[in-house]
Amino acid sequence: MTTDVRTIEWTGDGLRLLDQTVLPGRVEYLTVRDVDALVDAIRRLAVRGAPALGVAGAFGVALAVRQAAREGWDDARRDAEIARVRAARPTAVNLAAGVDRVLPFAAKGADAVAAEAQAVLDEDVRGNRAIGVLGADWILGRTGGDRPLRVLTHCNAGALATAGWGTALGVVRELHGRGRVETVYADETRPLLQGSRLTAWELRRAGIPCVVQADAAAPSTILRGLVDVAVIGADRVAANGDTANKIGSLGVALACRAAGIPFVVAAPWSTVDLALPDGTGVPIEQRPAEEILAWNGAPTVPDGVDAFNPAFDVTPARLVTALVTETGVLEVSSGDTPRHVRSGA
Ligand code: MRU
Repeated sequence: MTTDVRTIEWTGDGLRLLDQTVLPGRVEYLTVRDVDALVDAIRRLAVRGAPALGVAGAFGVALAVRQAAREGWDDARRDAEIARVRAARPTAVNLAAGVDRVLPFAAKGADAVAAEAQAVLDEDVRGNRAIGVLGADWILGRTGGDRPLRVLTHCNAGALATAGWGTALGVVRELHGRGRVETVYADETRPLLQGSRLTAWELRRAGIPCVVQADAAAPSTILRGLVDVAVIGADRVAANGDTANKIGSLGVALACRAAGIPFVVAAPWSTVDLALPDGTGVPIEQRPAEEILAWNGAPTVPDGVDAFNPAFDVTPARLVTALVTETGVLEVSSGDTPRHVRSGA
């Protein structure tokens, strides 16, 4: 059975994106050839997940450079369009980082930008494989014994959210490959259901046993002793280890602390933002109220009631047992932080 999907591909003159808004019912691809279409795909979450956004942002610069040549834009217009891609969603640092990484190649033309963007994509897949192995090693060392584990995850940090394999789900795939997954509790992840629509889809394709639960069930499942470890991804990790991820992640972390089980964040270094001393500076995306106020087009709220719809929350470093990156594992709640690693302290 196929275990991976291609979220993003450069076709030579544009981007081919797996449209994540129509999964799991339909597997369809979008062809994106201009900046407007890419910004729209990012905002609608047709492409989503921090590392995938980094890759999309990098290829977005190639798109903008091609479009500039095609439509006769001057440099100011081209730069303004690139800035729109960079700012299309605010929380995942990877989007801006992906754009910034390839910008120096813009003067050499779209092919040079696309080649560097492809390097971002390839590095992401390699990094995820390393995260999977390091995360599985750490979890098995920490949980002890040799029985298969019950793993909880929130949102989707799989192949769909990255260039391939996944971060949190990369760890789950690796554990499964070693015969060490009993089941995965996939939080459905309101309001856009990345857990039930995307994570469950990926796990099923990979033959990994899973159940979907309402987000509100997660703390109780954890405190009832039904979970051995929680593994999630991240959109931005501050220098002190504070971690922004999909709304609802904080509740999982609090429950893990109360139950005394590890809360593990799996993310590439490209998600670490050393410019932010702590999580208070993370820009939290507010999504449209309609995502909360309606279901399948039908209102779920009385007329005149508005919504509060933050897409992310920040888990304080003291609740993050471990941060697994492609270069190693930091035991954050014990005092290891990204800042310490980078400063060599
Ligand atoms: O709003 P989304 O679907 O882009 O949110 C995605 C998440 O919160 C993921 O957990 C995070 O980006 C890590 S993906 C490896």
